[in-house]
Amino acid sequence: MRIEIVTLFPEMVEAAACYGVTGRALNKGIWTLNCRNPRDFATDSYRTVDDRPYGGGPGMVMTAEPLGKALRAAREGLRAAGIDTAPVVHLSAQGEPLTHRRVVELSAGQGIVLLAGRYEGVDERLLEREVDLEFAVGDFVVSGGELPALLLIDAVVRQLPGVLNDEQSKVEESFVDGLLDCPHYTRPEIYEGRTVPPVLLGGDHSAIARWRRKQGLGRTWLRRPDLLTARGMSEEETSLLKEYLSELIQTSDEGKEEQ
Ligand SMILES: C[S@@+](CC[C@H](N)C(=O)[O-])C[C@H]1O[C@@H](n2cnc3c(N)ncnc32)[C@H](O)[C@@H]1O
Repeated sequence: MRIEIVTLFPEMVEAAACYGVTGRALNKGIWTLNCRNPRDFATDSYRTVDDRPYGGGPGMVMTAEPLGKALRAAREGLRAAGIDTAPVVHLSAQGEPLTHRRVVELSAGQGIVLLAGRYEGVDERLLEREVDLEFAVGDFVVSGGELPALLLIDAVVRQLPGVLNDEQSKVEESFVDGLLDCPHYTRPEIYEGRTVPPVLLGGDHSAIARWRRKQGLGRTWLRRPDLLTARGMSEEETSLLKEYLSELIQTSDEGKEEQ
């Protein structure tokens, strides 16, 4: 996977991408990162990449010309590496929500070109002409596309074969099966008077798998019911969820009695 990014802050992206899981994968050569700074494609001596918005209003807008040239250079970089088709992705608060499904689709390709905006955003004509996909990382606005781009890069890279030490981790994570992950515990067995669910200590793998499934369903029901509505549940899952909810009511009744 080769990722090209057009950004005014290449150092920010490079610094963050070379830590942890993504950093190790970069060192192993599983993916490569190439930054293109639109300032390198500006034509004036101030290396200007922004201008006042037509119609007035606050802030500045990124001009189309240097961004267009930087994107072209990025696509040429990919072509030189033998990658002819790669989506151009603009990180934008107005984009489609970035989801696990989209991440998996992107990770199946050989390359991606990312466009990180700044200021009030990018001249719309450049977006219309050059961009294939627009993704938002949440219903809020951050100051630039670099952090959203880093989120996308991290999520995509961890899907690539050979990146995670245990390939099973990415199969058991939140959203993979349309559900949230179950809770996790590690040593010590008692922390501040709180114990570990006994089933996890018993060594019965099918009971553990069943408990984890039930917790994942229950958590999703409590925290993200929209995911369950979109996904639906099998009969077995419906009865597991019922079991989860009756245990939850029982625990809360016991808590009230103790008070
Ligand atoms: C200050 S923001 C511009 C916000 C824009 N005027 C709006 O209201 O939609 C600057 C840049 O940050 C990026 N950005 C901000 N919030 C984002 C989000 N939630 N997801 C993805 N990118 C975002 C975009 O690249 C955007 O061009």
